[in-house]
Amino acid sequence: MVKLFSPLKFNKGVLELLDQRLLPHKQEWVRCVTPQEVAKAIKEMVVRGAPAIGIAAAFGMAIALNERENWSKEKAFEALRTAKVSLASSRPTAVNLFWALDRIMAVAEKSEDVKAAVTEEAFKIWEEDKRQNLAIGENGARLLKIGSRILTHCNAGALATGGYGTALGVIRWGFSQGRVSKVWVDETRPLLQGARLTAWELAGESIPHTLITDNMAGWLMQKGEVDAVVVGADRITKRGFVANKIGTYSLAVLAHHHGIPFYVAAPTSTIDWKIEDGKEIPIEKREEKEVSSCMGRATAPKATPTYNPAFDVTPPELITAIITEKGVVFSPYQTGLQAIKE
Ligand code: MRU
Repeated sequence: MVKLFSPLKFNKGVLELLDQRLLPHKQEWVRCVTPQEVAKAIKEMVVRGAPAIGIAAAFGMAIALNERENWSKEKAFEALRTAKVSLASSRPTAVNLFWALDRIMAVAEKSEDVKAAVTEEAFKIWEEDKRQNLAIGENGARLLKIGSRILTHCNAGALATGGYGTALGVIRWGFSQGRVSKVWVDETRPLLQGARLTAWELAGESIPHTLITDNMAGWLMQKGEVDAVVVGADRITKRGFVANKIGTYSLAVLAHHHGIPFYVAAPTSTIDWKIEDGKEIPIEKREEKEVSSCMGRATAPKATPTYNPAFDVTPPELITAIITEKGVVFSPYQTGLQAIKE
């Protein structure tokens, strides 16, 4: 039996989110009772990671109907539309957010008891994500040779999903089968999701891991100490362009140069079926101070300008395979992804 940990709880109209800004030092939960509070928690990265953002947004829609006792269907829809606008403006890159909002609206439109249907659908999205993570883990682990040393970037673990994780799902499953012997954890500047979150998850399960700064990956690859790179995704286009945490593209270029497999693990809810090219993916720009400071302390002169794109885009030719819950897709991605859609 696999033990699942989740960064969300939902009970009686209250969404609680594990405050990921405080990890690994403190475990505190943030209570959200309005959709605006959920949107703020997503924007400020109390909850983060593409699938987890989608699940939180789905519950944000359910919360919008908390007060609905004697509301007409029209009034319920007005509340849902307002909630959707607020949630959709929280973060632009992870497509799971918009996918979850659209799915909730579609269910609401077909239902008589809108509140019950929306809440049920949010739970369904969460449960599905957990199941999909396990399937991604199993599908991905098969690609790894026994005893592989895996490099990962950012956090695509239980904290970033409904539970278990995508890239970390592959690592967890692989470790349980002897296919993973060690994990190289990129610290992931500027917000240190690797150091603070991925290392915390791996340490919690005693999976052997070593933390490195982002600029050490190339040297490790050159020395032959990395057998595969496994990362998550925030949005995948129909042709297989992958947006993920800034720094992912550099790793893909390095892996390609050194002949190391570069795998992307993501549920099909991360595929944006409306776009083809990576240039169409909106890339979030975050606050300057995330770059000019670290853990609350300035690391650069006040007058120095900074640039802070939160994600980059890796082109399909640098990706060895995309691991989904429906199977592993190889190049050409346009046909491979289309085949798992149907
Ligand atoms: O800015 P974040 O922390 O939300 O970025 C997260 C990532 O880039 C993850 O790799 C991605 O969302 C996949 S999570 C399963």
